[in-house]
Amino acid sequence: MSFGLSHGRKLDPGEHGITREQLPPHDAGDFDPRTLFNRPDHRLEIEIGSGKGTFLAQQASLEPGTNFLGIEWTGEFQRYAADRVRRHGLENVRVLHDDASEFIRYWCPAGIVDVIHLYFSDPWPKSRHHKRRVIQTESLVQFHRVLVPGGLVHVVTDHDQLWDWCVDHVDAASGLFMKLEFQPPGSAGEGEIIGTNFERKYRREGRPFHAMTLRKKPDAT
Ligand SMILES: C[S@@+](CC[C@H](N)C(=O)[O-])C[C@H]1O[C@@H](n2cnc3c(N)ncnc32)[C@H](O)[C@@H]1O
Repeated sequence: MSFGLSHGRKLDPGEHGITREQLPPHDAGDFDPRTLFNRPDHRLEIEIGSGKGTFLAQQASLEPGTNFLGIEWTGEFQRYAADRVRRHGLENVRVLHDDASEFIRYWCPAGIVDVIHLYFSDPWPKSRHHKRRVIQTESLVQFHRVLVPGGLVHVVTDHDQLWDWCVDHVDAASGLFMKLEFQPPGSAGEGEIIGTNFERKYRREGRPFHAMTLRKKPDAT
């Protein structure tokens, strides 16, 4: 399927776009996503489902001392977002074409991610598709594993049933995360929560939003 995002312009993801084929086999066991960046020593934040890359472009320009890894499984969006951050000269952004849940589970070492951003994740409303939702019992275990001590997960959605699903799963994982009031990133404009494409679209439609921040609890001893 083509979304016609580029309006005929040739997209050039350059070094900002990464595909799974460029990653080593996950069972090689020695991959560190921080090495995708020019400054691997900087802190790392991950955005799951980065769409057209609006959040990445806004937030990465505000925080040059943080590396942002967007993960997007729709190829055309991934190429669009990577081309966009390349044109903006944002050396602290990479956009990976992959399933974020699989990447985090199989390629991400423990304790290296400062923040995970999950904004307007696909709701998959039909029961038989719920297994495709990003928030699952296992994904929360994996988020907890890859986050640094005190690391954060930000979740925002307009979808009531998806919100209930997220709250139920987070409550069931109360040993892993502390639920906090949402902490908005600097990318948010006047009157916005974050300022992504979907937030702007849904705001025009007058939809209400749900938002929470999770803080990683220390490992049980
Ligand atoms: C509704 S859009 C929201 C895009 C953006 N976050 C925003 O707020 O404008 C959800 C995006 O997440 C992507 N996505 C959904 N599940 C994913 C997964 N497991 N891994 C990577 N991308 C995913 C979809 O392809 C889509 O681009």
